[in-house]
Amino acid sequence: MTAITVTAPAKVNLYLHVTGRRADGYHLLESLVAFTDFGDGITATPSDRLTLTVDGPFADRIPTGPDNLILQAAQGLRDLCDIQAGAHIHLDKRLPVAAGIGGGSADAAATLTALCRLWQVDPDPARLDALALGLGADVPVCLRGQPAHMAGVGEEITLAPDLPDLAVLLVNPGVALSTPAVFKARNSGFSPPDRLPDRAFADRDGFLSGLAARGNDLMAAATRIAPVVGTVMKALDALGGCRLARMSGSGATCFALFDSSQVATQAAAVLAQDHPGWWCATGRFKKM
Ligand code: C5P
Repeated sequence: MTAITVTAPAKVNLYLHVTGRRADGYHLLESLVAFTDFGDGITATPSDRLTLTVDGPFADRIPTGPDNLILQAAQGLRDLCDIQAGAHIHLDKRLPVAAGIGGGSADAAATLTALCRLWQVDPDPARLDALALGLGADVPVCLRGQPAHMAGVGEEITLAPDLPDLAVLLVNPGVALSTPAVFKARNSGFSPPDRLPDRAFADRDGFLSGLAARGNDLMAAATRIAPVVGTVMKALDALGGCRLARMSGSGATCFALFDSSQVATQAAAVLAQDHPGWWCATGRFKKM
């Protein structure tokens, strides 16, 4: 068996409503999630032990000890499927960390996908989902890797229609935001779930006006902790051709949507000139 390589795409929360809070402190969410056609790279090769190496632009931010989500995912799958074999996993860390775009969750999900192929196992989907949810609330949706509505704390997933044709620009100002800290800093009430109906996916304008009526309930808290989020949002809103800009997840990454890749690329060039320290990436959303 040769190496298996899987992309761990960036997860974008097109809107995110916090609809309640469970007794254990986890928050109930309603979110439309989509994945970009770029991301981290996970490569799994056969080995008798479980090992991890990391390179890429954000490698220095990644702990490689046993608390790494990739190694936890690998060990969890090994236990679930009663596997004796190991694997060497290599992570090419191209996405910023603690950034609201999945990061560790996407890497964990991609690890599960890669190792199922490497070890040639096909676990029961409900048990695989339970393993994923134990690793993090976003891991089950990252396992799907396609447009989906997410509810509960992340365990209720309904696949959504493909998004209309749009280009996306992701921007991170280089500030890591802790998800628990952002949830804790939230001091507003709860929003209604207000799931975007399927008919809103039929055309670009209808989709964008549906998103415009929804927002990210974590943005005020994230901006209080990291005011630069407000600066990023202002810069995105001012870009020529920007149809809609929002923060993703618990931040600090924000995204802007454009009608075409050409306009998005031009906007990214303008932004890179004005803010050379910010991380920017453009692409499209993955389809079903
Ligand atoms: O599940 P994950 O490890 O990604 O979550 C990190 C933290 O974010 C949780 O410990 C919790 O404090 C907060 N969180 C939450 N509600 C969610 C997801 C995460 O309160 N639905």
